[in-house]
Amino acid sequence: MDKKLRKAVIAGNWKMNKTPAETTALINEMKPLVKDADCDVVLCVPYVDIAAAVEAAKDSNIKIGAENVHFKASGAYTGEISAEMLVASGVEYVVVGHSERRQYFGETDQTVNLRTLAAVNAGLTAIVCVGETLEQRELGYTETLLKYQTKMALTNVTADQLKNIIVAYEPVWAIGTGVTATADQADEGNGFVRAAIAEVYGEDVANSVTVQYGGSMNAKNADELVAKVNVDGGLIGGASLKAEDFSIIVKAASK
Ligand code: PGA
Repeated sequence: MDKKLRKAVIAGNWKMNKTPAETTALINEMKPLVKDADCDVVLCVPYVDIAAAVEAAKDSNIKIGAENVHFKASGAYTGEISAEMLVASGVEYVVVGHSERRQYFGETDQTVNLRTLAAVNAGLTAIVCVGETLEQRELGYTETLLKYQTKMALTNVTADQLKNIIVAYEPVWAIGTGVTATADQADEGNGFVRAAIAEVYGEDVANSVTVQYGGSMNAKNADELVAKVNVDGGLIGGASLKAEDFSIIVKAASK
């Protein structure tokens, strides 16, 4: 399998961090550090930071993403943001189905699928997150769960639309815990995701989809993780809030 068929993408997920002024400052610090990247560089930021992020990233190789999107185009959905609104704000990427959304905000495989469809139909690239809990891993359900979540999230997504889908394998037990999956565990999990895509869309399509690893990826472990054949970059939480650490991860994915 040729890894070069796929784009490596390093995406930061800032979660609920940074004000607009802090956003401008951090992106200005990052820009010179990541300008020579040989991978795609994305920062997914809180809704209120989008305007500042788009402005700060203008004329740079940093693309801006959101952290969630609603599946309806408009209407009485207090507190929600539509895909069209994101596109109109200069957003190109959006995280969908992050485990924190699933865990704390009642996100289900069905709503993850609807949000994914809304994103790609509006022309956004969706970063769709899947991942097992520690309990599911210990019970031996990792492969079953990852394949199920992947197929559910991609229901009714066409092979053509898959060009605008990135899947991020994020073991729940590794997110924000400092416990990283080993490079082999990451490669295996990403491989399960790719196998699920192959079961539905065929091997050729599956080999062209970017599958990231996420969960405590940092400046120290990025090299080893992104060197794995199935790991096409990463979704980075904590380490994406530090310009230098993030740039080291970008450099690792650029090799
Ligand atoms: P982390 O978060 O890098 O802080 O573990 C990853 C994520 O939640 O996407």
